[in-house]
Amino acid sequence: MNRQNILIIGSGGREHALGWKLKQSPKVEKIYFAPGTAGTAQVGENTNINPLDFDSLIKFAKENSIDLTIAGPDDILAAGIVNIFKKQRLKIFGPTKEAAQIESSKAFAKDLMKKNNIPTAAYQTFTDPEKAKDYARKHKAPIVIKASGLALGKGVVVAKTINEAINAINDAMVKKVFGDAGSEIVIEEYLEGKEVSIHAFSDGRTISLFPTARDHKPIYDGHKGPNTGGMGTIAPLSEISKKEINEIKEKIVIPAIQGMKKMGIPFTGCLYPGLMLTKDGPKVIEFNSRFGDPEMESYMRLLKTDIFEILNACVEERLSEIDIKWSSKFACCIVLASAGYPASSQKGIPIHGLDKFVDDPEIVVFHFATKKNEDNIVTNGGRVLGVTATGKTLDEALNKAYSAIGKNGIHFKGMQYRSDIGKL
Ligand code: AMP
Ligand code: GLY
Repeated sequence: MNRQNILIIGSGGREHALGWKLKQSPKVEKIYFAPGTAGTAQVGENTNINPLDFDSLIKFAKENSIDLTIAGPDDILAAGIVNIFKKQRLKIFGPTKEAAQIESSKAFAKDLMKKNNIPTAAYQTFTDPEKAKDYARKHKAPIVIKASGLALGKGVVVAKTINEAINAINDAMVKKVFGDAGSEIVIEEYLEGKEVSIHAFSDGRTISLFPTARDHKPIYDGHKGPNTGGMGTIAPLSEISKKEINEIKEKIVIPAIQGMKKMGIPFTGCLYPGLMLTKDGPKVIEFNSRFGDPEMESYMRLLKTDIFEILNACVEERLSEIDIKWSSKFACCIVLASAGYPASSQKGIPIHGLDKFVDDPEIVVFHFATKKNEDNIVTNGGRVLGVTATGKTLDEALNKAYSAIGKNGIHFKGMQYRSDIGKL
């Protein structure tokens, strides 16, 4: 095989981490990002293409002899990027629009789970706000209100009181704060337990589980404040036994993949169920149809196998041929966010201290939203950087990552981060 040209669509820390790992593959020639960040420019070449501009992406892939494209974010999968690339006979990693409904429509996901006896929270869907409010009043708080469509990870309210639930229903359905994503809502039973992220590579038939991971969604320490896209991850979770992982595989991941295949909508790509470990066993909170961000930042620090080989095998439906190996170490990612996030974000703030870690093999910093401004790297959005480290123990990894953050390390004006990642 000739050395391969890769196009990564998306600009998160996830895409930077993927590119960083792909660059280590002897099979990879050149990596392009659409559009990329100041961080991805250190791994490959940024293009100025908007991820939703499919015509320009196709043109770019053809003109630059791209051998494999990887679609990062959920919105482009839901908009059918994979269908469009496949139609042009261009190789792309990710699920089709139909298969991506497992994430883009909570109603579709709930239906799949019902049909395949996959354990999840009890729920009901509503298109009428008054009926939704009646239902919420009949059930006790806490109760969970979710916009059915995609809302950048922010469409979920865990309501602690009925008043909060009514406000959340009004926000989604009457005020339409998530636009069309909230025209339909799901009201769900509150699940109590510890949260786990599971990821699995799938070629539509065969699956391969990643180590377990945990994201930390609320903005503030102690799991306080509004939910974000994710403020930090750890992997693997030592409190989860092999038996529990097997239960997750047998009761959740395999039935989901087989259920989709039976429906004639095979799922190729990364299936990422978010789970709650309840006293009655693992239950699905949601399915994602892509790599988690910031899960991927921790995962790429642990993956030993050539990621190009894995992604290519998924696309060619021969994942069963690949023996995927993970390090026995622990990894973490601490997200550094802008002032105002998640409600708003400050842009253009100079970032200090990045150069201290450029040649440090221990600390790898992935960029979510940064830009080069003359000689400075500046902030360019809500989540800005993900600082990752590995260690023989989780504490070792966390201590290393945290030691790189602050006045003597990486910092910027208004920087917010959680100081309790992996500690709860
Ligand atoms: P989602 O966008 O569905 O992942 O939800 C965001 C966050 O809300 C999750 O990571 C959980 O922490 C929380 N959450 C969602 N659904 C439930 C539920 N049924 N019970 C308890 N917490 C939930
Ligand atoms: N880790 C949160 C997400 O990717 O949705």
